Amino acid sequence: MASSMTYTLLLLTLLMVISTTFIPINGKFSEQFAETKAKSHVNNMIHLHFYFHDIVSGKHPTAVRISGPKNAFGATAMIDDPLTEGLKPGSKLVGRAQGMYALASQHDTALLMVMNFAFLEGKFNGSALSIFGRNRVFDMVREMPIVGGSGLFRLARGYALAKTVRIEQKTGDAVVEYNVFVVLA
Ligand SMILES: *[C@@H]1O[C@H](CO)[C@@H](O)[C@H](O)[C@H]1NC(C)=O
Repeated sequence: MASSMTYTLLLLTLLMVISTTFIPINGKFSEQFAETKAKSHVNNMIHLHFYFHDIVSGKHPTAVRISGPKNAFGATAMIDDPLTEGLKPGSKLVGRAQGMYALASQHDTALLMVMNFAFLEGKFNGSALSIFGRNRVFDMVREMPIVGGSGLFRLARGYALAKTVRIEQKTGDAVVEYNVFVVLA
């Protein structure tokens, strides 16, 4: 008798542990934390604006395919794309986007972006931001996380909003407008 009660108690305890551990939050994918937990970052927020020139054609491409098939899942390019103050390619250079992008989706045109924005202008000359994100290139605006930085951007967090403003249908050369919001540590 006593041992069967002990057994039942053990089983109930086990069930409670399992249910609290594995049952998802109200059956939903996500949960929002109370707003009071959020810290105000507004004072340390920096906004950067520039144009990203992705040149895949001609004698001096800034993006070259390094592996995978052409324009299909797996295509991977190494980039060293100029970042300019204005829309025109000859406009003042403020930095370079150095890194890689790859077609990481079998179902749509979503790139994996892994790159550093190495700045060359003003007080951010010599500082860099690291971007690691998903870029569905045919969406009007794509958001990518800033996962860190160096120099004045040490410990930075934030996000980049990318919007294609010009694309040459024949060559694939593109100009992308970036609005970057960075929270300094
Ligand atoms: C940026 O820094 C480098 C290295 O210190 C320097 O050579 C260059 O002139 C600087 N550029 C600008 C625009 O200040």
